[in-house]
Amino acid sequence: MTSTAEKTPILRVDHLSTRFHTRRGVVYAVDGISFTVDRGRVVGLVGESGCGKSMTALSIMGLVPSPPGEVISQGIVLNGHDLAPLSYDAMCQVRGKAIAMIFQEPMTALNPVLTVGRQVGEAIAVHRRLGRAEIRRRVIEMFHLVGIPEAASRYTAYPHQLSGGLRQRVMIAMALIAEPMLLIADEPTTALDVTIQAQILDLMLDLRARLQTAIILITHDLGVIAEVCDDVNVMYAGGIVETAGVFDLFDRPLHPYTRGLLNSMPGMAASGHRKRLTCIPGRVPSLHRLPAGCRFHPRCDRAMEICRRHPPGRYAAGDGHWVSCWGYAGKGEVA
Ligand SMILES: Nc1ncnc2c1ncn2[C@@H]1O[C@H](COP(=O)(O)OP(=O)(O)OP(=O)(O)O)[C@@H](O)[C@H]1O
Ligand SMILES: [Mg+2]
Repeated sequence: MTSTAEKTPILRVDHLSTRFHTRRGVVYAVDGISFTVDRGRVVGLVGESGCGKSMTALSIMGLVPSPPGEVISQGIVLNGHDLAPLSYDAMCQVRGKAIAMIFQEPMTALNPVLTVGRQVGEAIAVHRRLGRAEIRRRVIEMFHLVGIPEAASRYTAYPHQLSGGLRQRVMIAMALIAEPMLLIADEPTTALDVTIQAQILDLMLDLRARLQTAIILITHDLGVIAEVCDDVNVMYAGGIVETAGVFDLFDRPLHPYTRGLLNSMPGMAASGHRKRLTCIPGRVPSLHRLPAGCRFHPRCDRAMEICRRHPPGRYAAGDGHWVSCWGYAGKGEVA
């Protein structure tokens, strides 16, 4: 059972759109999504490449390059404070302290001219009064926890002196050591080998257990979602098409896209051999040429006439379960 305290939303994203002004016109990478993240929960964001997962994360962090990007919302509310109107400087205060992010591409997060030890140390130095020796000790301990071998000698290395996998772990160390109230992890383990992957996921869950940290976990990997998430948002072409508790989603996927994703998951059959991989036919549409009506309709084997003409609303399908599909219309639409 989840207690009331755990159910307090730490983040509320309200009608968030992220658009880009391009030579070929305006494109919406994220198109009016709303979701909440409760304290101490791990919320998954899943969907095919290009569906807007990273842009959602960068929008919350205030890191969408502008121009050409533009973030519009009715609120990005963290622990009761709306981040949307904050200036770049004010957001710098929030980043690292209240929210930390593990980026999909580590080099975007690391400063090439500072040693990795110093960078990770700064993530705690700015928020707590600690002596230099204590900071160094904590950083090396965190390096060790994220699986960086010879942690003490790596302290003085520059990012370019490390392999991609080690840079990824330095960035993870930087995010975890800050002990944020919200951690956004964008494909945190994709580039890492399986043992380290498991170690990193455990560290994130440990942070959640110790500090009630809420986590947004972005991944292509439904296996990871099944293992660590409490709630899941399925994204397609800039929108959230289904939201559900993790058990509900795997047990009772409703949106044809979610079903397609689950069918394409390389599950293990009882005999131990892999089931045949079924792919969703067709491709994610270009943001420049989005289909009318439901964006998934050209790939959907259940598409009806209305799906080709009008975008579906968001329909309630159970406790905390929402689906954006005409097949479930009339069961309690919400804005
Ligand atoms: N500067 C830009 N100008 C125009 N479109 C952009 C720009 N940056 C990103 N996009 C578009 O935004 C969309 C969403 O990108 P995003 O990086 O959020 O996808 P993603 O879901 O994280 O994909 P992946 O799984 O590959 O990481 C993509 O279609 C991308 O082409
Ligand atoms: Mg991405």
